[in-house]
Amino acid sequence: MGVGINAMPVTFVAHALALIAAIMMLVWSISFRGGFAWEATNKNLIFNLHPFLMLVGFIILGGEAIISYKSLPLEKPVKKLIHLVLHAIALALGILGICAAFKNQNECNFSNLSSLHSWIGIGVISLYGFQWLYSFGLFFYPGGSSNLRSGLLPWHAILGLFVFVLAVGNAALGFLENLTFMENEGLDEFGNEAYLVNFMAIVTILFGASVVLTVSAKSESTSSPSVDDDSNYSYSAI
Ligand code: HEM
Ligand code: HEM
Repeated sequence: MGVGINAMPVTFVAHALALIAAIMMLVWSISFRGGFAWEATNKNLIFNLHPFLMLVGFIILGGEAIISYKSLPLEKPVKKLIHLVLHAIALALGILGICAAFKNQNECNFSNLSSLHSWIGIGVISLYGFQWLYSFGLFFYPGGSSNLRSGLLPWHAILGLFVFVLAVGNAALGFLENLTFMENEGLDEFGNEAYLVNFMAIVTILFGASVVLTVSAKSESTSSPSVDDDSNYSYSAI
């Protein structure tokens, strides 16, 4: 898979969208929703950790991990370490964010796992955990044979991209669900907060699109200059 553009400029667009989405999330959580807490009588403060950790921790760091191979002018083994560690942090923060959602639901006596958003959410985090674990064994330690690694790398990339896109779609579902709850409780459909949440979802989707485009674009590899142009699109499995 490859489109005829260089990846590096697209990664700058991705970083900018990530920053905008993170700022919008902080403004929403703190200025409109009262901030964060793990223990509180106001259970909304516990819930607020969920969208924040899922967007900034899971989706943004996960997306940055995916594009790290093309956004960083470093040697391949260093980029692999950064890819691996960023994904580990994204996974840990994603699990914490889901724990915050469960904690809020339980302390409010709401039922768990009643929505499509929550079902897809469990699927996404499980697939992400699976992807991280087998990739660690296959590509890092102890590492598979070179045949096995190069055979499985395209599968790794396609499954990884699928899980990431699913996470972005599920975040959009989460924004919609949350905004619908708030509007049912009287929030103005055309008020500032409703616009902020909807535009945040759109920026999140655009960030997802820029990550997909980066993966499909040509890398300007610094570590392994390619003999022909097509090899820019293929994986080297180191
Ligand atoms: C990829 C990112 C996300 C994942 C994997 C995810 C996953 C989950 C899971 C597993 C639950 C179920 C908790 C329970 O049943 O006790 C949940 C609940 C919830 N999430 Fe998310 N979430 C994500 C992003 C978001 C975002 C960005 C929002 C926006 C506000 C959001 C809003 C909600 C709401 C309102 C609930 C409670 C209602 C329900 O169970 O559906 N989520 N989420
Ligand atoms: C221990 C964890 C991981 C290791 C060791 C690892 C290793 C690798 C390697 C060696 C590549 C090839 C890079 C290249 O040749 O250009 C790669 C690419 C990729 N990985 Fe991972 N990975 C890990 C976790 C993950 C996770 C959790 C995801 C997503 C959920 C993911 C998604 C991707 C994607 C989408 C690509 C393609 C990037 C591109 O073509 O620009 N990886 N990974």
